[in-house]
Amino acid sequence: MTRRPGLTARLVMAQLLVVFVGLATLFVVASAVGPPLLRRHLRSAVGAVSPHLSRHLEHAFLAAGSISLAIGIAAFLAAAVVAAVLLTRRLSRPIHELADAADRVTAGDYTARLGPTRLGPEFETLTSAFNTMADALENTERTRPRLLGDVAHELRTPLATIEAYLEGLADGVRTLDEHTLEVLGAQTTRLHRLVEDISLVSRAEEHQLSLARSTLPAARLVDAAATAVRPGFRTRGVDLRVMVAPGTPAVDADRDRLVQVLVNLLTNALRHTPSGGTVTLAAEPAGGGAVISVADTGEGIAPEHLPHVFERFYRADPARDREHGGSGIGLTIARALVQAHGGTLTASSEGPGKGAVFRIGLPPASDGPDLQGSNVGA
Ligand SMILES: Nc1ncnc2c1ncn2[C@@H]1O[C@H](COP(=O)(O)OP(=O)(O)OP(=O)(O)O)[C@@H](O)[C@H]1O
Ligand SMILES: [Mg+2]
Repeated sequence: MTRRPGLTARLVMAQLLVVFVGLATLFVVASAVGPPLLRRHLRSAVGAVSPHLSRHLEHAFLAAGSISLAIGIAAFLAAAVVAAVLLTRRLSRPIHELADAADRVTAGDYTARLGPTRLGPEFETLTSAFNTMADALENTERTRPRLLGDVAHELRTPLATIEAYLEGLADGVRTLDEHTLEVLGAQTTRLHRLVEDISLVSRAEEHQLSLARSTLPAARLVDAAATAVRPGFRTRGVDLRVMVAPGTPAVDADRDRLVQVLVNLLTNALRHTPSGGTVTLAAEPAGGGAVISVADTGEGIAPEHLPHVFERFYRADPARDREHGGSGIGLTIARALVQAHGGTLTASSEGPGKGAVFRIGLPPASDGPDLQGSNVGA
């Protein structure tokens, strides 16, 4: 296979082609327009001249014109070649740098980044898109070993319990009574939930999650979530308040998935709010869309933990949070599901003891009726 010339050579050739086409046009136009013009000027300056003199003058004019044009064109060509080479080098350097950086990323070096090109917005968009991609890959690569370690750690605890109970049964130390079955069942359920959660997060993060979306009033989502968690709140003596501001627009959502997110946030709030406290589930209009928030008056989140709560397997207080049965993946799932809806999920807290607020921002439903929420009591 013949090797095609490089980008620099092709760009220079393209620019020189433009120059040659320009020169050819100039030559054709000048030779078509020049002689008749000369004849007209002669006629008006000296009147009728003999054909011999006319031919002589025309030759002299063409010779002088051609020589000056040739000298001009030679200088012009030299300048054009220099300019074309310089310009092309300037243009092709960032492209070569991009190719080198992409090669490094392909080879597994995710620290490759591109500097500013100062070649206009198109190049800036290209370099910033590349750098963002490399950032994301580097981040994934950095968290991957920890993720695998975390998964192994989460699997180890229930597996160790199951193993211990099975050994006890085999040794005759334990009998297959109700308690043993309950423990084995609970640990199996925990493993099952973990596997489901991990699979859900991966699918959501790979954008493989199919959402059954429809236009829904925010009040309906909020009501469904509140109904699901209310018995738990009653048992724990925590007050659950539900408020939907008038004018809250409808959202384009997968009902079950968003209710799952809200139940997740409400379960967290309940888990971290002592009895006598209050959890408020509210929906209100914001920026054309809707914001659904879950605010509690509980333990709050320390500033050093706040940026991490959405990370997989992150628990502010691992021992205590695990005791509650949590594996630290609930908020990761919640955020992935909200993002799959084109929304945002953020957390804020004034600090320990001051409660926490989780806010879901959802874009407005793109079509369908503008269903308005109604006020819903507690
Ligand atoms: N409302 C809240 N108040 C205080 N801390 C919270 C609140 N919600 C979440 N957190 C903190 O964020 C951590 C991560 O929450 P997440 O829901 O991801 O995990 P989890 O509840 O521990 O486990 P899982 O949801 O998988 O059962 C929690 O362990 C807890 O430390
Ligand atoms: Mg949780």
